[in-house]
Amino acid sequence: MFEQLEAATPDAILGLTEAYKNDPNPEKINLSVGVYKDACGATPVLATVKEAEARLLQSEKTKTYLPMAGSAEFGDRVQSLLFGADHELISSRRVVTAQTPGGTGALRVGGDFLHTLFPGSTLWLSQPTWPNHPGIFSAAGVPIQTYPYFDVATNALAFDAMIDQLNTIPAGDIDLFHGCCHNPTGVDPTPAQWEQITEVVCQRKLVPLVDFAYQGFGDGVEQDATGLRILSRQVREMLICNSFSKNFSLYNERIGSLTLVAGSAEEAQTVMGHIKLRIRTNYSNPPAHGGSIVAAILADSKLRAQWHKEVEVMRDRICSMRELFVRTLTTRGVQQDFSFIANQRGMFSFSGLNPSQVAKLREDYSIYIVGSGRVNVAGMTEANIDRLCKAIATVLD
Ligand code: LMR
Repeated sequence: MFEQLEAATPDAILGLTEAYKNDPNPEKINLSVGVYKDACGATPVLATVKEAEARLLQSEKTKTYLPMAGSAEFGDRVQSLLFGADHELISSRRVVTAQTPGGTGALRVGGDFLHTLFPGSTLWLSQPTWPNHPGIFSAAGVPIQTYPYFDVATNALAFDAMIDQLNTIPAGDIDLFHGCCHNPTGVDPTPAQWEQITEVVCQRKLVPLVDFAYQGFGDGVEQDATGLRILSRQVREMLICNSFSKNFSLYNERIGSLTLVAGSAEEAQTVMGHIKLRIRTNYSNPPAHGGSIVAAILADSKLRAQWHKEVEVMRDRICSMRELFVRTLTTRGVQQDFSFIANQRGMFSFSGLNPSQVAKLREDYSIYIVGSGRVNVAGMTEANIDRLCKAIATVLD
């Protein structure tokens, strides 16, 4: 059977990282996959993670299975992080959380849940979105449509077009929003725009699904939850898929969660019953280590404060790289206006580079950028910025 197969198309993001790893050029630069790099170009283990792991090594007594929905302690910590401690949704037990293998695992379990129980619902994705979103939801059998999000001419949110489209979506459909640090554009709604989005979502009886993979990388751990919290104040039901890959730098531990808000405590338990079935047929129950680390840090006020500082250091470095990138492009003689990059948030920006310029950067300079022109600003360092901007100036000529 296998000899009939044609080669698979490499993944738009992870396929590039494989190509980068195989590139012998010592000056190669990887701005493709969303992984944070420090000023030395490394992705170190956070000090809080090291401390939590040392404590776990001492205290861990068993490697027996976790429950299908993971650790209850982890779920409680996640809910406080998402909504704020003592939130009414938490005290009224309208929220349930399942520990999942990464944010991707949360999206897939959410997709399976929607497909199995609400087969008539279409999922609406922003145009553009993370290239894996359509793949995950199609694999789960969820029908997909898109709504406008980004205005290429102004490098800003296409807010009116987005609202116009949301206003046409039938009741019972699902809208996927990026909680903060929109991937791939780096452009987010303002709090006032989130209020308007919420109004439309409620009027049309849509169900929001918030993908929240970058909490803390925009304006702060609390501030970045603004949109999600505005939505959760008004809507009856919602899904949240979050990831701890970036903000805890736990990429290879695969830790995230799927949180669902229901109309009552009883409904929330019913929902969780169905989520457990979807988990059981996917991976049975989640891996424990990443969740234990996150819960240990969030449960300890000193470690939690230290973690907030560590996230701040990563966020500030990304912001300073955004400014340095814009400045260096100008000093390298680039006429095109890239100033918008300094105002965007999170790891990513749409550079505006076209596919042939992206290909030239890869082939001639070993600089790896996603085909859409998305750059991972967190992969820029003082050491590689000049080479990067010189190469961009050449391909723009
Ligand atoms: C990205 O967009 O680069 C990250 O979310 C990593 C991934 O899995 O694609």
